[in-house]
Amino acid sequence: MTTFKTLGQFIIEKQADFPYAKGELSRLLRDIGIAAKVVNREVNKAGLVDILGDAGQINVQGEGQKKLDVYADEQFIRALQSGGECCVVASEEHELPVDIDSELSRNAKYIVCIDPLDGSSNIDVNVSVGTIFSIYRRDSLGGRPTLKDILQKGDKQVAAGYIVYGSSTMLVYTTGKGVNGFTLDPSIGEFCLSHPEIRVPAMGQIYSVNEGNYSKFSDGVKKYIKYCQENDAPSQRPYTSRYIGSLVADIHRNLLLGGIFIYPATRTHPNGKLRLMYECNPIAFIIEQAGGRATDGCMRILDIEPGSLHQRSACFMGSTGMVAAIEHFLDAER
Ligand code: AHG
Ligand code: MN
Ligand code: MN
Ligand code: MN
Repeated sequence: MTTFKTLGQFIIEKQADFPYAKGELSRLLRDIGIAAKVVNREVNKAGLVDILGDAGQINVQGEGQKKLDVYADEQFIRALQSGGECCVVASEEHELPVDIDSELSRNAKYIVCIDPLDGSSNIDVNVSVGTIFSIYRRDSLGGRPTLKDILQKGDKQVAAGYIVYGSSTMLVYTTGKGVNGFTLDPSIGEFCLSHPEIRVPAMGQIYSVNEGNYSKFSDGVKKYIKYCQENDAPSQRPYTSRYIGSLVADIHRNLLLGGIFIYPATRTHPNGKLRLMYECNPIAFIIEQAGGRATDGCMRILDIEPGSLHQRSACFMGSTGMVAAIEHFLDAER
């Protein structure tokens, strides 16, 4: 008989890595896992129920919200509210932090930043979407948490992860001691350990970028893309181009196979498009924990001091050898 370890069992075992832990982080991760199953259920039957299409509101990013953006946001916030381990949530879908001021969470010490549904443009056409989360410990004591409590640099994350609602649904997370992946077994409704200790290969043959933006990229980025396309047998070029348009799905593939994901600054998006607090930081933490690298072109993503909740950052992340190669092109243009 095949034995498998559920996410719940794994989390409890791993608590031993943190001898002074009281189980709060474990419970928080469990709550996120539960909300992920609820969202997964809705994503799976999306074409059958009235949950596709626009919600009719514009979020703080200026994007039209999809019904599933709103639904996923509600589910994760509700799970965090009823779990009692989180004092405040920063979500892509809310301009301001959502304060969780309940009896249960009055002294909660964790802060969650979340992209409830990543890959909105893919929702209506049955292409993989995801969820990204990032967890910080609250530094200040007493009173309600402030924006300053949330705006910590990525290096201070205590855990981060993503869920990819793909051909199967997976939850991948790190608490700073490597990266582990769990596949949802729908027959028993449990995430089961399927990808222990994920390592991103030091070199890959996949580059992922929205090439429709090519004319808006800097010379260094343009030259790197041409480099990826050149014939050079010893370095196994040309590389393969793969771009889904859901950060989670693009990163998940490159994490397993090796590759680089880039979303550079452009004229229309001078700081890139992806959001630092709930897209770049959690993904950068996971990639580094898997042995890869993540930079904004000048510095390590995890060292960026955030100035605002929804700030954007350029990003270049993935296999170390490939990130080093693009840095060479970026340095040459400075
Ligand atoms: P979200 O759906 O959470 O707003 O994120 C969209 C992001 C990300 O998933 C993806 O990598 C990127 O936008 C795609 O942007 P382009 O369509 O500009 O390539
Ligand atoms: Mn996103
Ligand atoms: Mn989103
Ligand atoms: Mn969005």
